[in-house]
Amino acid sequence: VHAIQRTEGLSKAAAYAEANRQLESVLAGETSALANTANMAALIYQALPGLNWAGFYFLSGEELVLGPFQGKVACVRIRLGSGVCGTAALRRETIVVPDVHAFPGHIACDAASRSEIVVPLVAGGDLLGVLDLDSHHQGRFDAEDAAGLGGAVGILLASCDLRPLCSLG
Ligand code: SME
Repeated sequence: VHAIQRTEGLSKAAAYAEANRQLESVLAGETSALANTANMAALIYQALPGLNWAGFYFLSGEELVLGPFQGKVACVRIRLGSGVCGTAALRRETIVVPDVHAFPGHIACDAASRSEIVVPLVAGGDLLGVLDLDSHHQGRFDAEDAAGLGGAVGILLASCDLRPLCSLG
């Protein structure tokens, strides 16, 4: 069992180097997509400071459906193109939202969330879902978070096939 080291006080670059090193170690040798996404949500939530939600949505038809996460109970189904998650999924681009009140169509699962980042999960040219992080703090996420979380998603996609999680409905 891995004791996750928190990364407060480190630069973002150092924090993501440390968090992603731990992620490699936690996912090593395991190919269960459900287990790896559950552990990745827990690791991110514990290791990175200033988060109030971290988790996954998986593509099912034209919708994103809630997957493993840490934080408050969340919206279950998000249409492609809706909210930050559905927009990042449709564009297949990471979206950083410094102030969620300024993002048209933002879906408020927790009224206390102030900023958000969503990273699409794309494997073999197919959109499979998104990784979503929320924060109580305005401006919590920037290009360094996009780079660090892109690295984390790369580690996840190398560890397992997420497609089985997309057919659950
Ligand atoms: N805020 C997201 C919805 C998901 S929750 O934040 C967990 C959105 O606008 O897509």
